Amino acid sequence: MHVPPIPHLTAEDPQLATLIEAEASRQHDKLRMIASENYVSEAVLEASSTVLTNKYSEGYAGKRYYEGQQLIDPIETLAIDRAKSLFGVDHANVQPYSGSPANLAVYLAFLQPGETVMGMALPMGGHLTHGWSVSATGKWFNSVRYAVNRETGRIDLDEVRDLALAERPKVIFCGGTAVPRTIDFPGFAAIAREVGAVLVADIAHIAGLIAGGAHPSPVGHADVITTTTHKTLRGPRGAMIMTTAEHATAIDKAVFPGLQGGPHNHTTAAIAVALREAATADFRAYAHQVVANAAALATALTEHGFALSSGGTDNHLILADLTSKGIAGKPAAQALDRAGIELNYNTVPYDTRKPFDPSGIRLGTAALTTRGLTEQHMPQVAAWMDETVTAALKDDEATIDRIAGEVRDLLAAFPMPGYRAA
Ligand SMILES: Cc1ncc(COP(=O)(O)O)c(C=O)c1O
Repeated sequence: MHVPPIPHLTAEDPQLATLIEAEASRQHDKLRMIASENYVSEAVLEASSTVLTNKYSEGYAGKRYYEGQQLIDPIETLAIDRAKSLFGVDHANVQPYSGSPANLAVYLAFLQPGETVMGMALPMGGHLTHGWSVSATGKWFNSVRYAVNRETGRIDLDEVRDLALAERPKVIFCGGTAVPRTIDFPGFAAIAREVGAVLVADIAHIAGLIAGGAHPSPVGHADVITTTTHKTLRGPRGAMIMTTAEHATAIDKAVFPGLQGGPHNHTTAAIAVALREAATADFRAYAHQVVANAAALATALTEHGFALSSGGTDNHLILADLTSKGIAGKPAAQALDRAGIELNYNTVPYDTRKPFDPSGIRLGTAALTTRGLTEQHMPQVAAWMDETVTAALKDDEATIDRIAGEVRDLLAAFPMPGYRAA
């Protein structure tokens, strides 16, 4: 049963309620390993579904374009203050609707159309909004892209520096969406300083690890930090932009009125809850456990013959090239899903296959760590993955079904926030 319960929805719109209940149960029964996903707390779920959704609040606290902000202003200020204190930044904007609009606000703040931005190429682990060709950021700006080194699978800062010196970008993005290794923020900052660029650290994936002290912080190195709030940070779907005092006004103007209208106040409240949770000792332990679990899983997968991009992981994320297993990423991801192990197919650096049918899979340990799994469970997870991939090659659906049952049995002992067995 969904928690908080949804009796009014069940009475009023049973068709929709049934789908939501089924999704809660699906999330309970699956080993959820999509690296960008998590389980939020019931307090975050409650804040997300309050009457705050009824209110329009264009502007910022103390400077709104609608009346009736007596309570919205302190709610947004609470979220801002918690972000500033958790990450140790001068300024935080908690209004971006999600990670992509947050990154677009950076372009609006610092670039004119046609000017040069530098980011990590999408197939190397960067995000679409770091200037990839199909994104508005690649169509409307002159984007230049750095790669990872073909041998090491890691970013080579000498190559990044050479490209920056040649292209003189006004903005440099570091961080990404499939980067299993620690981001060298001081190294990127030195390059940005040398070429006079604004350094933007997109910490969407690793924000919770940074908050919990399990990944170095970009604060003091990056001029601007963008993040989603719903990945390792374990908040609602949303985003934040954090800056030095120098860039605060430019970013605020870019978010509103530059790109958005009214902020989603129910989301702002839920972000405030998540930031409070992320400041606790429990969350610090969680962040370190996420990394420990990923390291244990990487070791176990390697023992089962999986070829990991960059040879392993420093964070929550693992990228595996399945070529040596004789299967492509997509059929493997689909078979794993049938086996109760949910992840996504993904390109690997220098992939010879197409993005919609790539060689790899991407997985992460943020959600299963929220459920309470630890290093001791990772060898079993890796063994299930190996057995599933082998079974998929033989069309052995019986084995895949058996594994799905074993996954369900294991997870029954690990409660899920947002769900109770009926
Ligand atoms: C590094 C990075 N930046 C930005 C985003 C975009 O976030 P959203 O999907 O909320 O627009 C993502 C999403 O996966 C991401 O991984």
